[in-house]
Amino acid sequence: GKGEYDHFMLKEIHEQPTALAQALEGRIDPENARISLGDFEPGTFEDVSSVQFVACGTSYHAALYGSLTLKQAGIQSDALLANEYSVSAPPIDEETLVVAVTQSGETADTLNALRHAAAEGATTVTVTNVVGSTAARAADEALFIRAGPEIGVAATKTFSSQAVMLTLLGQRIVEDQFGEPAVDFETFLPELATMPSALDDILVRSDAEAIANRYEDSQSYFFIGRGLGFPVALEGALKFKEITYEHAEGFASGELKHGPLALVTPETPVFAVFTGEEDEKTLKNASEAQTRGAPLVAVCPEGHRAVDVADAHLEIPETVPDLAGLLANVQLQLVSYYAADALDRPIDKPRNLAKSVTVE
Ligand code: F6R
Repeated sequence: GKGEYDHFMLKEIHEQPTALAQALEGRIDPENARISLGDFEPGTFEDVSSVQFVACGTSYHAALYGSLTLKQAGIQSDALLANEYSVSAPPIDEETLVVAVTQSGETADTLNALRHAAAEGATTVTVTNVVGSTAARAADEALFIRAGPEIGVAATKTFSSQAVMLTLLGQRIVEDQFGEPAVDFETFLPELATMPSALDDILVRSDAEAIANRYEDSQSYFFIGRGLGFPVALEGALKFKEITYEHAEGFASGELKHGPLALVTPETPVFAVFTGEEDEKTLKNASEAQTRGAPLVAVCPEGHRAVDVADAHLEIPETVPDLAGLLANVQLQLVSYYAADALDRPIDKPRNLAKSVTVE
């Protein structure tokens, strides 16, 4: 049941510290600066020459997140929409690793992409929440995110767990390729281990409800971010439109000035995600929207320069860029939830949507 919560979505948002702790259990060893991923022993991905992530919706945003951490580490990688894969897949051979990212493990588009890749000779891995799902069985290997059942149609805790698992898988791939991790494990793994409590801090202290109420009568809601903040902006907008039925869009911060700025008015709040990747540029992009009258909501740590400039602030604990986006995402989940709640939407079952999409 929903227990003390009005909706499964809110319950699942609040389950994120536990879900993440379960995902990390036995998989990271901060003291010895090691990750261990069960069957994926060191050396598994030695011969991989490129990585393609295939997924839809929220899982696609997690895939973008995972793919970007690989690219930033110098590995050829792309996140691809599974529903476009049959018409737009990059070349595949035996050295291609294809990673299907799917909460349910039953999404038809993702299964099709996975099967196509396998038929072309790729090595396949499924990252999923559901043990025994079709996608778990269809791939060479499966990696389980262990988030527990997700009832709300809008994916929340599974995004966080997917992004973390893809980051860990990415680190294994990087170690196999280059003989060493892309990030300093002595800093990164202890930081990762603190994520459950960082999420807890956000959940206890978030101003998301007040901010959702403050901008309740707006016309459109924009979400911007750069680097790992970009998939978070896309996810923030998807969640918002899905459960509030209001228009929302996510952009790369730097794209605003290439068109979307024409839409910006005092009726279009801009939520800007700061991950520590060229934040100065993001702040400049956000300020351009603010100059046109848009209220600016900065999602960033206390003491960040954006706090002084913005009209409102959603605080995230200080962390490394690889993880800041995950924290920001939780604040945006809460904004969507409270905005939808104020509008009295059927939050757990938005119109026209199903939890798992088993048709093409
Ligand atoms: C959004 C949402 C959907 C799913 C998408 C893929 O909140 O839930 O966009 O993420 O349908 O589903 P899975 O991950 O089960 O393949």
